[in-house]
Amino acid sequence: MSPHAAAVLSGLGAWLPPRVVDNFELSETLDTSDEWIRARTGIAERHVAEPGKSTVDMAVEAGRRALASAGAADVDFVLLATSTPDQPCPGSAPQVATALGLNGTAALDVNAVCSGFVYALATGAGLIAAGVASTVLVIGSDTFTTLVDPTDRGTVPIFGDGAGAVVLRAGHADEPGALGPFDLHSEGELAELLWVEAGGAKHRVSADKSDYFLAMQGTAVFRHACARMAESSRAVLAKAGWTVSDVDRFVGHQANVRILQAVAKTLGLPVDAVVSNIEKTGNTSAASIPLALADAVTGGSLVAGHRVLLSAFGAGLTWGSAVLRWPDVTPGA
Ligand code: ACO
Repeated sequence: MSPHAAAVLSGLGAWLPPRVVDNFELSETLDTSDEWIRARTGIAERHVAEPGKSTVDMAVEAGRRALASAGAADVDFVLLATSTPDQPCPGSAPQVATALGLNGTAALDVNAVCSGFVYALATGAGLIAAGVASTVLVIGSDTFTTLVDPTDRGTVPIFGDGAGAVVLRAGHADEPGALGPFDLHSEGELAELLWVEAGGAKHRVSADKSDYFLAMQGTAVFRHACARMAESSRAVLAKAGWTVSDVDRFVGHQANVRILQAVAKTLGLPVDAVVSNIEKTGNTSAASIPLALADAVTGGSLVAGHRVLLSAFGAGLTWGSAVLRWPDVTPGA
């Protein structure tokens, strides 16, 4: 491996827990409706990890499929993008590596919430460029249904569980699948817009049970997501020397179909460039982009040679984008 090698996407895997909860089922316990959820978010159903199935378990399923998709891959780093680790401490990536038969391999969690997958891709690309690793397994896995207050109609309908993964190998910047450039940002002063307030080192205990659940100021998050994803998409296209008309597929974080449509409209992207599987998954946080990629490849709407724009936005706040030309890679079984 030469120094400053590019990271090339060479494997793809996806996994969704089998239990599907549709909007009608949610309406049995929450003051909401299929009509409201579909109209405001584009979500019809989501997958939910049953008790006993965890973020690590899902990550292992997706990771195994990505490794199968890549063929022989001598992984020397595992990155797990998650903000719902199996325990608050330690990180979950070492447990994922061991379960995948990669005991002894370097393994690290990346917590950038819904931007986690794009951040982990950038981290993996950096490890490869620096010569620290030559093959990196990047997994996004989240179990947000464990983080939402089951009585909160503002968050429960939005989130689902799942995992997606890619394999990055050292290669050349002009190969199909070569990642980058990247555009990454954060704004910590807006952390309160979307957070779990209690249970950490600052606000250790709270008498209010709701402080242990995800609290979201939905309208403000919506506005920031639309603006930041569009800004960042423009920035990464400029760095890549691409124009909007060069983009064949826009694979954005699947938080709300209206956010994806608004970003596409701001950028001037045609509707058929927008990849969306949110109707069937809800917002799966760090898993959402690899799940959307896998769904699009399986459905035939993303094919080798397509120029792809990835863009994500999440709690933190964090956001970021990347581009690549889609390689001849299909999801592993
Ligand atoms: N069912 C029925 N009515 C509802 C529901 C529901 N599930 N939720 C809210 N409402 C009501 C509200 O009470 C409000 O009623 P009112 O007008 O009588 O006060 C009305 O619907 C409108 O509520 P808004 O919150 O203004 O609705 P909005 O159009 O903003 O949609 C939503 C809410 C879907 C949450 C939207 O704001 C959104 O998608 N925000 C972004 C969320 C997001 O992307 N979060 C994840 C970021 S990524 C990460 O890092 C995890």
